[in-house]
Amino acid sequence: MSEFYSKRRSVLARKMSSEKIPDNHLEQILAAGIRVPDHGALNPWKIKVISGEKLKLIDKDIILSEFKKENSNANDIQLETESKRLQRASVVLAVLSTPVDHPKIPVWEMSLSSGAVCMNLLSCAQSLGYAAQWLTEWYAYNEKMLEYLGGRKKIDKISGFIYIGHKLEEPNERRRPDPAKVISYL
Ligand SMILES: Cc1cc2nc3c(=O)[nH]c(=O)nc-3n(C[C@H](O)[C@H](O)[C@H](O)COP(=O)(O)O)c2cc1C
Repeated sequence: MSEFYSKRRSVLARKMSSEKIPDNHLEQILAAGIRVPDHGALNPWKIKVISGEKLKLIDKDIILSEFKKENSNANDIQLETESKRLQRASVVLAVLSTPVDHPKIPVWEMSLSSGAVCMNLLSCAQSLGYAAQWLTEWYAYNEKMLEYLGGRKKIDKISGFIYIGHKLEEPNERRRPDPAKVISYL
């Protein structure tokens, strides 16, 4: 197995830098990222690519604005954080789980396939040496955000935002599960 998989590590969005990523790298990440297992080849997911001015626009018009609605007593530090969420990255890939009606394949499997897209995009970006992190934070559960991204209310869900940027330093290892506690041989 390539060492990439045994060493792979996310970089926190707040620790990445946001200079532009070359278009050909982004294209490679997207093309490889959607090569995931998908029962029935239903493609029950969508990816919305958010970069450049759109990062700013969504930060202002959706994230900050929705945060203010729910948090009228927010302090300046909180408002500053919410005003720059997406702008931590060079590009944010919003992955939507968009299940379809099917007589045999359960929605659960379609959701799993959407999670696979998230993980694959994350790994593809990291394999090219980029800093990347899979986040949901509060705004993945916000209806206005879902609607803005083209999701159907009460049907589609945001599986995650894949933040991609540049590494400022190599990340430290994080606590990993004890294999003996999560793996057993039957
Ligand atoms: C569906 C999902 C949502 C997540 N949302 C958050 C989040 O909102 N905030 C956070 O700090 N980490 C969140 N994480 C965890 C981060 O992705 C974290 O960087 C990750 O656990 C690092 O693991 P890795 O180094 O093995 O890639 C989420 C993970 C998943 C799978």
